[in-house]
Amino acid sequence: MTGRVAGKVAVITGAASGLGAESARRLAREGAALVLSDLAADAGEALAEAIAGTGAEAVFVTHDVADEAQWAAVVKTAVDRFGRIDVLVNSAGVGAGEPLMEMTLESWRRILSINLDGTFLGMRAVAPVMAQGGGGSIINLSSILGKVGQPGAAAYCASKGGVLMLSKAAALEWAPAGIRVNSVHPGYIDTPMVSGAIQRSENGNELRDLLISRHALGRLGVPREIADGIVFLASDESSFMTGSELVIDGGYTAA
Ligand SMILES: NC(=O)c1ccc[n+]([C@@H]2O[C@H](COP(=O)([O-])OP(=O)(O)OC[C@H]3O[C@@H](n4cnc5c(N)ncnc54)[C@H](O)[C@@H]3O)[C@@H](O)[C@H]2O)c1
Repeated sequence: MTGRVAGKVAVITGAASGLGAESARRLAREGAALVLSDLAADAGEALAEAIAGTGAEAVFVTHDVADEAQWAAVVKTAVDRFGRIDVLVNSAGVGAGEPLMEMTLESWRRILSINLDGTFLGMRAVAPVMAQGGGGSIINLSSILGKVGQPGAAAYCASKGGVLMLSKAAALEWAPAGIRVNSVHPGYIDTPMVSGAIQRSENGNELRDLLISRHALGRLGVPREIADGIVFLASDESSFMTGSELVIDGGYTAA
């Protein structure tokens, strides 16, 4: 088998849509076997079938990343089917726009439980298997909003800042086990998360123009541009990277 991640086994959450789906397609093309997970079963099953149709190995598990017990089933599927886990991509996540003064504790906890608890639970569930196999690469989707603030996105910013520091602490703790942990910080990328927020907004075109204007390159990103970074972090090309922040944001945070 050839490819930049040939022979590796990757678990990808949030794989039914957007950045998770594109990462799955690209990791498969580069030789990885995949366990895909998502709440969205139909889209996830369809993607696994499409990937399997290209000759790569892919299996889908319906999975809520915020549910501790369900992680055991994901890990078991990977081990039963492929015998090991080399890569974990924590891409499942939810966006949110809500004024802080009006935010309920319930709403805050929902964002944190998926974006931050889900990442923690995944790392903790997968790391022992990775360590047993001699190490691996964990790739956590943070955001530019884990590095800079944005009005109306306090819970999302807090969750993604948490993912950033969780990744660094884990990188130090798990380096002796050969497990690398890095965070990825996309700018605004044209996925259902972003197009949905634009559609829901009262002035969608204006919001889109505003978002575009904040990227020095003058456009939103496309999923491939993040998936390329994820393939790099999954592969041995990034073997000396751990605890790093891979910022792929068209210059958003350069200003
Ligand atoms: N698109 C962007 O501009 C952007 C920018 C920065 C960071 N990110 C981050 O990248 C990741 C992927 O975003 P995307 O743009 O692909 O979003 P998306 O909405 O297209 O896909 C997210 C996927 O996560 C799944 N999901 C949501 N809650 C879940 C749960 N509890 N358990 C399991 N799966 C769940 C959804 O079903 C969906 O398939 C997210 O963590 C997001 O915060 C996205």
